[in-house]
Amino acid sequence: SIPKVVVTYNIGEEALAILKKHPMELVLWSEDRNAPREWLVENIPGAVGLLCMLTDKPIDGALLDIAGPNLQVVSTVSVGYDHIDFQALSQRNIKLGHTPDVLTEAVADITVMLALMASRNGRIAVEAVEAGKWPSTPWSLFAFCGPQISSPGYTVGFVGFGRIAQATLRRLRSFGIDRFLYNNTGRGSSRESADVDLRQQFNLKELRRVELDELAAECDLIITLTPGGALTHHLVNESFLRKMKKTAILVNPSRGTVVDSNALALALKESWIWAAGLDVVEGEPNVGLDHPLVQQPRAVLLPHIGSATFETRIAMACTAAENLIRALAGEPLLAEVKQ
Ligand code: GLV
Ligand code: GLV
Repeated sequence: SIPKVVVTYNIGEEALAILKKHPMELVLWSEDRNAPREWLVENIPGAVGLLCMLTDKPIDGALLDIAGPNLQVVSTVSVGYDHIDFQALSQRNIKLGHTPDVLTEAVADITVMLALMASRNGRIAVEAVEAGKWPSTPWSLFAFCGPQISSPGYTVGFVGFGRIAQATLRRLRSFGIDRFLYNNTGRGSSRESADVDLRQQFNLKELRRVELDELAAECDLIITLTPGGALTHHLVNESFLRKMKKTAILVNPSRGTVVDSNALALALKESWIWAAGLDVVEGEPNVGLDHPLVQQPRAVLLPHIGSATFETRIAMACTAAENLIRALAGEPLLAEVKQ
């Protein structure tokens, strides 16, 4: 019989063309909204491949058991895979494909945008115009002021120092920033020679791995770019926020779970820090007007759009399609999650 592949979203014609080159029964959810869980549960039994979104969660043992023993690959259109139980896949010899690299530059772009919006009162200023307040608040010497990113000695700290953090570093270097600290939980020592290279290549005054306490206390801009999941849950918590400078900015373009939302809302309310720029928050997409961070004008929130450029989203969908095809053919994936 023809192998069945389930696709949980309208992935666009480029990615569909990749799948359609191969003989398979394609079961497509083709509306521009997330496939309901019931649809997935109804269609996944017997499938050899699942192409999914980060909003399909959880992809866990229970769902894999419903899929049954034919399933060979789960291919997610995202770099993050905290919506997927990797152990449950491994135990069943199911491969996991994801989409790093193709989104690195787009997410680094929006990281800089969030840093600038947060430090320069982007939300407050835009809201003032939208509320018709420009006529009554003309250009005014000290209104809307914020701390300047491109100022001598400005220090940036990365919580997580992978591909996107390094692409962000390159951008920030062009603002004149030459002091960077980072903390990463993984491959600590193996980075040292890479750091020497980065310091030389970008003529940095400082690039150093430090403990989280020191990072919190020393940096003017702190950017969390780590995977989600249990290991990074609430790395930025109340005690971290209390150590930050009053003028410091927190930017989170990675996963909402990395930052304790309630603690951050308190930090902003009581001015422990200057502002926050967030593309993700805990509990998204349930972020209504009553959300403690939406209520803080110095929190600039975007609805998880870090990789949302036409170019990048098409590339992500195509990478996921290619990963799926390769896994079914027994070939190496473009990007496979491994232990
Ligand atoms: C987006 O958050 C992704 O993981 O690709
Ligand atoms: C600002 O618009 C200036 O002219 O300084």
